Amino acid sequence: MSEQNATQESMHIDPYERNWIRISIILLIVFAAAVTIAGFALGFQVPSPEERVDPNNLTGPWENPGLRELSPGVYDLYIIGNATTWQFEPREVEVPVGSTVSFYVTSTDIQHGFKLQDTNINMQIVPGQVSKLTYTFDEVGTYDYICTEYCGVGHAAMFGSLTVVEK
Ligand code: CUA
Repeated sequence: MSEQNATQESMHIDPYERNWIRISIILLIVFAAAVTIAGFALGFQVPSPEERVDPNNLTGPWENPGLRELSPGVYDLYIIGNATTWQFEPREVEVPVGSTVSFYVTSTDIQHGFKLQDTNINMQIVPGQVSKLTYTFDEVGTYDYICTEYCGVGHAAMFGSLTVVEK
């Protein structure tokens, strides 16, 4: 066997393995494309850890959670989830159509989820941390928010609704 043949022999990749390497590379390209398209074309948002708070002593806006109108049609919405009452507080919110709402959500006790149906708002809610996402409501209707992470016996009761009404 010549030296060149010996080198080729040591580089030999089984056809079965080579196909799986190809499939793996194709999958990586598909995943990268999916994240890129979701991020730039479909409005995919990653919830930001907005700030740290003391879950045992929520102060400032958290003492009276709910809507704050910053300017006409622009709102901050503070929501607390907790496993003492198995509720989101507030449980009902109403805004006029066209409003841009920034959701600030935290927990006083254990980990919860917060998903606003029919929107791209979907966050993990961690005690001690505030999760934030923003959405503009261009259509009238009712958007239910639900806890999406199993948090105990009252998990199924953790829901609320945001109603978008005509101006
Ligand atoms: Cu809170 Cu599930």
